[in-house]
Amino acid sequence: MYNLDYRLEVEGLTLHYGNFKALENISVKVPNERITAFIGPSGCGKSTLLRCFNRMNDLIDDCKLEGSVFLDGEDINGSGYDVTALRRNVGMVFQKPNPFPKTIYDNIAYGPRLNGKKDKLTLDGIVEESLRKAALWKEVKNKLREPAMRLSGGQQQRLCIARVLAVEPEVILMDEPCSALDPVATQRIEDLLAELKKYYTIIIVTHNMQQAARASDYTAFLMIEDEGEPGCIVEFGETERIFTNPEDERTEKYITGRFG
Ligand SMILES: Nc1ncnc2c1ncn2[C@@H]1O[C@H](COP(=O)(O)OP(=O)(O)OP(=O)(O)O)[C@@H](O)[C@H]1O
Ligand SMILES: [Mg+2]
Repeated sequence: MYNLDYRLEVEGLTLHYGNFKALENISVKVPNERITAFIGPSGCGKSTLLRCFNRMNDLIDDCKLEGSVFLDGEDINGSGYDVTALRRNVGMVFQKPNPFPKTIYDNIAYGPRLNGKKDKLTLDGIVEESLRKAALWKEVKNKLREPAMRLSGGQQQRLCIARVLAVEPEVILMDEPCSALDPVATQRIEDLLAELKKYYTIIIVTHNMQQAARASDYTAFLMIEDEGEPGCIVEFGETERIFTNPEDERTEKYITGRFG
């Protein structure tokens, strides 16, 4: 029976890029309305796994996937699954803020317009609400018609989060969203995450152990046994337990900084 407490579920996932096996037999359940962190050494497949949740790997030639990924109990790789709807439901924020070369307003209105919303009052409302949710409204409300590129890095990242929120996703994937930001901007994003998790299921990839410990509820530790070997999940559990009482010696080594 499908358990509604888990919004996303991966079962026996193995992924190849050509002949290279990047992930092997991954199974993980992502709890609903919580923050789940993926941690692990460079190259262990965190970004690859994250991209499986909104089928971004479809865009990579030669990428083959076995196993299943379920969103709300439905196999997202099943025939006839609506990929456009999937990408709307499962938004993504990248390491480097990537606003469009448009105004702040048009960045946020972009997705809703694509989805057929044309009415100015409706769009005004969505823009304001999304910017408020992303804790950016106060800083930009008087310059909505200015280019987004003029914002600071931290503001641009919150703009990218607002852009994702504007299309009303259920899940937000974040691949090292703070690694290009200073500590103050990082803190703002972490505060924002704590607010957003009340309404969204969030997966965050991070290299920063403190960030995973501070910001997430659940943590999955991935690693590769050796160069050229596929990534696998060593341990998954509540963040507090993973960081205070890891079951696997390899997890302990990693979080205490003894390798990776
Ligand atoms: N498009 C691709 N084609 C071929 N191999 C790829 C591709 N993308 C990633 N890989 C390989 O898959 C493995 C996992 O890469 P991935 O980017 O998922 O790791 P990661 O854990 O996100 O690393 P990092 O922490 O450095 O971002 C690596 O060996 C990488 O070289
Ligand atoms: Mg990565």
